[in-house]
Amino acid sequence: MAVRSAAAPVTPEGSKSGRRPAASTWPAAGSVAPRPTIGREQLLSDLVRHLERQDGPILLSGPAGIGKTHLARASIGRLVDIGADAEEIIGGGAPSAVPLGPAAHLVPAIAGDVPLAGLIAAALDGLRRRAVERRLIVLADDIDLLDAASATLVGHLARMERVAIVATS
Ligand SMILES: Nc1ncnc2c1ncn2[C@@H]1O[C@H](COP(=O)(O)OP(=O)(O)OP(=O)(O)O)[C@@H](O)[C@H]1O
Ligand SMILES: [Mg+2]
Repeated sequence: MAVRSAAAPVTPEGSKSGRRPAASTWPAAGSVAPRPTIGREQLLSDLVRHLERQDGPILLSGPAGIGKTHLARASIGRLVDIGADAEEIIGGGAPSAVPLGPAAHLVPAIAGDVPLAGLIAAALDGLRRRAVERRLIVLADDIDLLDAASATLVGHLARMERVAIVATS
């Protein structure tokens, strides 16, 4: 598995565009204990340390099933255990067929006909407020399968203070 610290999304090895992603095995970070992690202790602690320092987004890339999502969630779980807040934006499947579908849970209800850019701004505003309370870690899973609007949201989040991103591809 390749681990990259990136200020901007990096072209993944073995892009998975077009194939159905694996179903999520761990609901929103912090709500359910993740499966125990076997091995990869060094990688996991390096990842946790990097996320704690907020040194910029992390991209985990590699072949399907190698454990990218598991490792990302395990690292986020460790930070949630010590007080961080967490969210997930998951690419692929039916949600990615709708603009902002993978991030719909982050978009506040707004009356009227709001343009997509307004919905992105509203989601960012909500997350910025949350991050003031507790540092926020966002899993952007299967980023190559995100719709353009959700990818835009993740791109803005990556530049937000008190927000750390771990992406998989
Ligand atoms: N280090 C580990 N310890 C325990 N279970 C693991 C570990 N790594 C992966 N798994 C388990 O193996 C399965 C596949 O891992 P995961 O979904 O994280 O792979 P992935 O690289 O994200 O795959 P995809 O490319 O399809 O998204 C999952 O059930 C996951 O919980
Ligand atoms: Mg995965």
